[in-house]
Amino acid sequence: AEPPAPLPTPEPFQPGQFPQTRMRRNRRTGWLRALVAEHRLHASDLIWPVFVLDGDKAREAVPSMPGVDRLSIPALIDAVGHAGELGIPAVALFPVVPPALKSAQAEEAWNPDNLANRAIRALKEAVPKVGVICDVALDPYTSHGHDGLLEDDEILNDATLDVLVRQALAQAEAGVDVVAPSDMMDGRIGRIRQALDARGYQNTAILAYAAKYASAFYGPFRDAVGSKTNLGSGDKRTYQMDPANGDEALRECALDVAEGADMLMVKPGMPYLDLVWRVKQAFSLPTFVYQVSGEYAMLMAAIERGWLDRDRVLVESLMGFKRAGADAILTYTAVEVAERLKKG
Ligand code: PBG
Repeated sequence: AEPPAPLPTPEPFQPGQFPQTRMRRNRRTGWLRALVAEHRLHASDLIWPVFVLDGDKAREAVPSMPGVDRLSIPALIDAVGHAGELGIPAVALFPVVPPALKSAQAEEAWNPDNLANRAIRALKEAVPKVGVICDVALDPYTSHGHDGLLEDDEILNDATLDVLVRQALAQAEAGVDVVAPSDMMDGRIGRIRQALDARGYQNTAILAYAAKYASAFYGPFRDAVGSKTNLGSGDKRTYQMDPANGDEALRECALDVAEGADMLMVKPGMPYLDLVWRVKQAFSLPTFVYQVSGEYAMLMAAIERGWLDRDRVLVESLMGFKRAGADAILTYTAVEVAERLKKG
């Protein structure tokens, strides 16, 4: 028989080039996309920030945050129980302090029976498995809406530290798992760590809002906790960071790490993804990111108009944080997203 005709000489192989390399091969089917996915969002990545309400009303809507309600302590217990069942590890509490309890010196901040401390006690008793994080900052308690004490148009740093320490101790005494100083005073992490240790609260962790910017994205939050009218036209630029700066955030983090922070936070989230990446790379500490109220409001406003697809955009916005290196994400969408993830 005739020998078979020789095969044609192949084109020289050029690895990494079209047509041998086709990126779309790995995207062809759902099972393959699942196998090659680099990041996964899980309920255990989420921290749910909640506004806590005093008085008899069970819940109250926040107009600039559609879908977010302020919750009374009994309603909070139910909601956090549900969040825990969905696999959300922790909640962050923000009290809505009645105007009559606000003052120039923020005395209510360290009242052992203030709303935040009552909420902490109630949660730790009713839903002990869910972690409780609480903000340390004076803005819910000051008549002027600032995070620190105000004198002659200046926010006093060192005098504020004394009040923050008392506030943190009162929260620790109430049983909080993590105190989260969000005030941006210099030296607060070290002072709070020392004070906690001296009183036997070695196990109370500190989540430092280390890179916290003077952001316009906090507007709806200030509505929600009722500090907006108090702050008026005032701004927080003498203590929160300038959005123009990135290197400075690394210095803030380095100081907080040296002073004893257990976890670092970048805030806001989406406009500051570069910092999430840099902070995680630089310190290898648990790095959290806060998808703040204004980010939530933007998403909801577009979703309500039908301009964005709710089913996809919420998860996608959180996936960006995971890709940037965040270990956990504070998001008002935590419960909805956890429910969505559970359904698959
Ligand atoms: C208070 C505090 C703020 C937020 C968290 N803690 C507001 C602010 O600094 O003015 C904002 C959170 C959000 O916008 O969702 N120190």
